[in-house]
Amino acid sequence: SRLFTVLAFESSADDTCVAIVNSEREILSNVVIKQHDEHERFGGIQPYVALQKHQRNMPIAVKRAFTEANMTVNDIDGIAFTRGPGMHGCLAVGANAAKSLAAALNKPLIGVHHMQAHALTPLLTQPTSEIPQFPFLTLLVSGGHTLLLLANKIDQYEILATTKDESIGRAFDQVSALLEIPWNKDFGPGAALEQLCAKGPPIALVSETGSSSKSIERTVGEFPRPLKGKLEFSFAGLHSHIDRLVKNKETWKDFNPEQVKYILANGFQQAAVGQLEEKLALGMKECRRRGLEINHVVVSGGVASNTFLRKRLRACLGELSPTNPIHLVFPPPALCTDNAVMIAWASMHRFLAEDFDDLTIDLRPKWSI
Ligand code: KG4
Ligand code: ZN
Repeated sequence: SRLFTVLAFESSADDTCVAIVNSEREILSNVVIKQHDEHERFGGIQPYVALQKHQRNMPIAVKRAFTEANMTVNDIDGIAFTRGPGMHGCLAVGANAAKSLAAALNKPLIGVHHMQAHALTPLLTQPTSEIPQFPFLTLLVSGGHTLLLLANKIDQYEILATTKDESIGRAFDQVSALLEIPWNKDFGPGAALEQLCAKGPPIALVSETGSSSKSIERTVGEFPRPLKGKLEFSFAGLHSHIDRLVKNKETWKDFNPEQVKYILANGFQQAAVGQLEEKLALGMKECRRRGLEINHVVVSGGVASNTFLRKRLRACLGELSPTNPIHLVFPPPALCTDNAVMIAWASMHRFLAEDFDDLTIDLRPKWSI
């Protein structure tokens, strides 16, 4: 079959992304312009600010994508963009760029589902012998998403669990801020919290039966494990639990503040990752109930770079399936977060099948999978 080259646009949230990928699984360019802004990071994305930045950055990203690939528009065979879900104005920036180019160049156009693209990433990034086979599970843990996805077929997906309130990434960021853990641009607040947790001895939080009479562990007590037994995530309660503990200064006056910080950080990380373990086990059980055999679990998103999480999920899957080891796959971090490479790749099978979209295709800001 002939080589097919896709130019793709992604602007559904706060990153402006353009990429060029071909049907031989080659990534020719991957441009991501982030909207670094502390206020946005902690307060959530401001749609209008994000829209303005996309409008400013999109042409720059397009130029860079061609320079990086050392290509011209003549080398492009098809154009893909994120159709949804996402913020309408933001999506429109990428979509309009894609449509206008497709119209001017007379090239085929395809609108892609953002979550499907995340789920399909390992089919691009894994070595050929280790590509996940359908059906597989994807745990997407980032600042924007907390999702357990079942990928049944290349065009058939299901969300098994999502968060009813905030994302796990945002909870990591906010708790890190509450504990006043210093961070820098290389290691953001979530990673800084992980590093702090790894600095001391492992701890186990106990409630009633702690041995010492007045340990910090006992004072902290157990952390909430919400929605037990349900295929749904929640991190707001855990976050506000830490908030209450931190603000209740009276409780801590007899303890070393650094020690308190260490215990609270560990308690949070254990509870947050514990929730992922519990939901992953429930998801596996649900698949078994449906008679589906799952051999691969893909974990992606910014939080997936957390080493403690990796260790725990590996152990969890080992326990769930001791005889038939389940492959745990972590795509490279740069392709776990929002990018246009995944959009290009998710469109490829449709381009090759000549299943194109019309130039008038509408956006789907709320698009179930
Ligand atoms: O996927 P991502 O890079 O971007 C967005 O979601 O926009 O995810 C970023 C999130 C942030 O909340 C960040 O604090 C978190 O991933 N994160 C981590 C770690 N590294 C990044 N959380 C916990 N442990 C880490 N090592
Ligand atoms: Zn995303």
